[in-house]
Amino acid sequence: MSLLARFTVIGGLSSEQLARKIATRLRSKYVGCELRVFPDGESKITLKTKPTGKIIVVHSVYPPVDSNLVRALALVSQARKYSSQVYAVIPYMGYARQDREFLPREVVTMSLIAKMLKAVGATKIIVVDIHSMMALKHFQISTKNVSAIEEIVKYFKKLCLKDPLVVSPDMGGVGRAQNFAHLMKVEYIALEKHRDRKTGEVMIKSSNHQKVRNRDIILVDDMISTGGSIVKAAEHLRKQKCRRIYAACTHALLIGDAEKRIRRAGVARIISTNTIPGKTSIVDVSAVIARAII
Ligand code: R5P
Repeated sequence: MSLLARFTVIGGLSSEQLARKIATRLRSKYVGCELRVFPDGESKITLKTKPTGKIIVVHSVYPPVDSNLVRALALVSQARKYSSQVYAVIPYMGYARQDREFLPREVVTMSLIAKMLKAVGATKIIVVDIHSMMALKHFQISTKNVSAIEEIVKYFKKLCLKDPLVVSPDMGGVGRAQNFAHLMKVEYIALEKHRDRKTGEVMIKSSNHQKVRNRDIILVDDMISTGGSIVKAAEHLRKQKCRRIYAACTHALLIGDAEKRIRRAGVARIISTNTIPGKTSIVDVSAVIARAII
C-alpha cells in the first residue's frame, strides 16, 4: 500500500506549515482546517475535507497556550471519528515544565493534559525535545520524543565559527550540550544557574571558565521563553571575553521583548526550529518527525 493511502496529516493552525512539510515527506494526504475565533475567545474549528487512513494531527501548544491546547484536543477528538489510529504530534508541548510538584500544593498540569489527550482518543503522542522526559511519564499511551539537535548541528556546521565552545546555561542541560558538542566535534561546558521558584528570577552562580576566552560560543537550550536564562548566561560569558555568541534552541517562544533583550546582551544570532514558527525558526524538524511516524 502506498504511504498516500495510509496516512492523512491534519495541520492545526499553530503548525500549518510544518504539517504540510510532514505530509509531503510522508507522501500523504493533507487536510487543513478553518479556525474561527468568536468574540468571547471560543475557537470553532472545521476540517476542510474528510481524512482517511491513519490520522496524524500536528498542533504545537505555544501561546496562546490554553487556546492551542483546546484546539489540539478538539482536532484529535474529531480525527478519532474517522480513524481508530490517531497520532497527536505536539512539536512544542506547552506545560511540560509543570511535570512535578516543585512547591507544596502545586497542580501538576502536565498530568492533566496527558489524561485529556488520551480521553479524546490519541493513540500515540510524538513530541520534539520535550522539556523533561518526566513529562512523558504521565501518559498512559505510547509516546515518542524526537530530537532536533542533529538538524540544528547541521546548520551550525555550515557557519565558519572560531574555535567554537558549546555552553549549556544550566546543569540540567548538560546532556544536551554534551550531545550537541559531540556531533559538532567540539568541547562543551555547563554553567550553574539558579532560578527563584517564586519570582522566576535567574542568576548565574558559576565562577570564571578559562575555556571561554576568545572563542565563539553556542549557547544551547531546549527552549527560550522570557530570555532570562540566555541573557544572564550571555552577560556572564561576555565578562570573560568570549568572541561571538550564538543562541540555539528547539523552541523559541521569545515572550514579550525577549529577542531584543537577548540581542542587547550580546547574542549575535538566535537559531531555533519550526516547532514554533517565527523569525528565528530556520531549522526544519519535519524530517525527524516524519521518521518517527513511519
Ligand atoms: C529551563 O530549565 C529551560 O531549559 C530553559 O532554560 C528555560 O525554560 C528558559 O526560560 P527563560 O527563557 O524564561 O529563561
